[in-house]
Amino acid sequence: MHLVGGIVVLISGSGSNMDALVRATRAREVPADVVAVFADRACAGIDRARSLGIPAEVVAPSSFEDRDEWSAALRNAVLRYSPDLVVSAGFMRILAPAFVDAFEGWLINLHPALLPSFKGPHAVRDALAAGVTVTGSTVHFVDHQVDHGPIILQQEVAILPGDDESSLHERIKEVEHILLPKACRLLLSGEARLEGARVEEKA
Ligand code: GRF
Repeated sequence: MHLVGGIVVLISGSGSNMDALVRATRAREVPADVVAVFADRACAGIDRARSLGIPAEVVAPSSFEDRDEWSAALRNAVLRYSPDLVVSAGFMRILAPAFVDAFEGWLINLHPALLPSFKGPHAVRDALAAGVTVTGSTVHFVDHQVDHGPIILQQEVAILPGDDESSLHERIKEVEHILLPKACRLLLSGEARLEGARVEEKA
């Protein structure tokens, strides 16, 4: 598989999915390099990225007048790396149209539930509270609605008796560490592509 480009990853937390994606690119399971990581706050994932040798920068909303200005500044910072794909992996902020419009069709998000169920920032907790027996993870294109857009890949995770938010989220993340690199590979290799409102995989 030949190298086709660069990926920028957006994070807010531990960055375990960013780490899994970097390792998959270095193993050439994904035909690209992670060229930069951005966060909206100081977080463990920033240190993790730097220890992997990846430029990592915080662009904090508090440094800007409003969400539009912050989103535009983040957009400009990301564009400096000319990425082929922008991956929101545990990025806990809603991006304004200034950002989303600039990356339409090459901006994807990872969500710890089977969308369209359990949108929002507490997807794991909400699935447990609802008493469902199966939840999972979704990788999807980002549009102007929160946790919404054409679905690229989904995988189920069973909820086990005795699960709490932490144990369930850990099992979801184990799945995500494979699902996210796979989605990036499908898109960057052209094996899957956005056709209107749906993602089609080549047979
Ligand atoms: C993931 O479960 C992702 O689906 C959710 O936030 C979590 C990020 O975890 N949006 P990490 O920072 O990659 O460890």
